[in-house]
Amino acid sequence: MSKKVLVATFKPFAKEAVENISKICEEAGYELVLLESYTDPQDLIKSVADVDALIVRSDEVTPEVFDATKNLKIVVRAGAGFDNVNLPSATEHGVVVMNTPGQNANAVAELVFGLMLNLARRHYTGKPGTELRGKKLGLHAYGNVGVAVNAIAKGFGMEVYAFDPYISKEKMEADGVTPVDAVDALYETCDYISLHLPKMKETIGLANYELMSKMKKGAAIINTAREDVIDEPSLLKMFAEREDFLFAADVAPKCKDEITGKYDLRSFFTKKKMGAQTAEANINAGIAAIKQIIGFFEKGDTTFQVNK
Ligand code: 3PG
Repeated sequence: MSKKVLVATFKPFAKEAVENISKICEEAGYELVLLESYTDPQDLIKSVADVDALIVRSDEVTPEVFDATKNLKIVVRAGAGFDNVNLPSATEHGVVVMNTPGQNANAVAELVFGLMLNLARRHYTGKPGTELRGKKLGLHAYGNVGVAVNAIAKGFGMEVYAFDPYISKEKMEADGVTPVDAVDALYETCDYISLHLPKMKETIGLANYELMSKMKKGAAIINTAREDVIDEPSLLKMFAEREDFLFAADVAPKCKDEITGKYDLRSFFTKKKMGAQTAEANINAGIAAIKQIIGFFEKGDTTFQVNK
């Protein structure tokens, strides 16, 4: 029997990405159902009853969603971070969860530079700013996005440092990155700290006052990862105590309005999370997601499973 695939995206993919997914489904003899731009989580719950596979972006796949399914075998998070999918519930329901690592890394990496330039050029207000060339860029975690940021940083003439206990020094050195043994040293050394941490129990609030207060005069934090990896009281304390502290984020903290109200020139927030919001990233991640689903059903391929 033909498999039914639901693409549920409250923040829809670019049209070209949906066209690609649709074509691949058709060729495989799978049925595609779209649930786009929904605002009520109940809409997702109502749509999953008879689907075999689900593709999502940052959409919350809660235990209620899994409870509402009858045939679901696989969820693919078209993207890197899968903190929006309740893995214990998926496993309990016998559902395989995958992500599509690396597929939108370049889009996020390019945005990191957009955010850094915005701060460096003082929001293009005409006030004299600074250049990125010769500055030290510290990558807090060196996964796919970190690798892509480093590649672009070379063109800007930045010196790149990274702290990531899960990545070998040899790999970093081979990429021309200086590995840093202690995270404190990264914050002490760099002019820009770019966060690339996944959201996990261990990373929530990791960028805290203890670390941020070690930053150099005029240094900036760029967050394109997840809002929760920064401790918000620490962030507010940094803004209040350090007139030189700069911060830009694609994943705005809950205290965003407090910051913009008082420290507008020292902060910048995108209107919506848009790191992966490019046609190219949507096409890459969307195609990878549907191919992984077909590979799973047709060949039992579980390469990118994250709930093993
Ligand atoms: C990811 O984890 O891949 C990014 O945060 C992208 O998230 P999005 O699909 O919601 O844009």
